[in-house]
Amino acid sequence: MTLPAAVTQALRCSVCGEPVELAGRAVRCARRHSFDLAKQGYVNMLHARVPAGTADTTEMVAARVEFLAAGYYSELADLVAGQVATAGTGLVVDAGAGTGYHLARVLDRLPTATGLALDVSAVALRRAAKAHERLGAVTWNLWEPWPVASGSASVLLNVFAPRNGPEFRRVLRPDGLLVVVSPLAGHLRELASVVDLLGVDGRKDERLDDRLGGQFEPLGRQEAVRRVTLPPDDVRRAVLMGPSAHHPRRLRRLDQVAEAIEVTTAFLISVYRPRRLAK
Ligand SMILES: C[S@@+](CC[C@H](N)C(=O)[O-])C[C@H]1O[C@@H](n2cnc3c(N)ncnc32)[C@H](O)[C@@H]1O
Ligand SMILES: [Zn+2]
Repeated sequence: MTLPAAVTQALRCSVCGEPVELAGRAVRCARRHSFDLAKQGYVNMLHARVPAGTADTTEMVAARVEFLAAGYYSELADLVAGQVATAGTGLVVDAGAGTGYHLARVLDRLPTATGLALDVSAVALRRAAKAHERLGAVTWNLWEPWPVASGSASVLLNVFAPRNGPEFRRVLRPDGLLVVVSPLAGHLRELASVVDLLGVDGRKDERLDDRLGGQFEPLGRQEAVRRVTLPPDDVRRAVLMGPSAHHPRRLRRLDQVAEAIEVTTAFLISVYRPRRLAK
């Protein structure tokens, strides 16, 4: 498994910022900083410590893979891919790509585009690297300046993951599209009967515009609200793939779930383009 050429071209050395090339099983810059291409197909460009509890764990990733495979978020993935269906060729960067589920669906719609999955979880990126043949995966902490060239992305995806507005702006081409998916208040609210969920903040979407507003202009918003019935195993997966999994004390009642629960899934898909900066 290797890196698509368009991904290598867009990457920058995370130590010195120089361009890199693929040399055997490593990515290297002219100053000889070198990053291994793991046999599972992702490149680790991290060199600073990442705070504990940031990356999705093996258990969280396993729960997410199984939950997504059951198709509950398939309609969401179609809506996201539909938003960028006219983006044409170029590089699609997925910031916090996880297992690459949404990025792969976007690449299916854009037959000449290439994908770059950034995530701090190597466990998730092992999956992402296999999720699509035109996808390259790089381990990175989104809160640090990204090892990605300025103006290299035609599309930036951000699906339930940290939002670094200044880096979104820098990496996206001036004519590029930013697609952000966030949970709406009420998303999976019925699971509160079985677990002390970390609440979804209903004002999150307003704050999203506040935070991205200086650099991005909103183009459109779409709400995707559905009711789905989750059998007990998928109830457990829905909880264990989310942030509550980092808090074992909240999960005590989860083992006792014996019946299916009908839940609401509620997402907001927001599309932006970079604002022209005043000269
Ligand atoms: C809720 S998951 C969403 C994954 C994927 N976008 C999806 O929808 O399937 C959030 C992802 O963000 C990643 N993440 C959290 N903090 C991060 C950070 N500081 N830098 C990079 N990735 C981060 C996690 O490892 C996880 O894969
Ligand atoms: Zn370097």
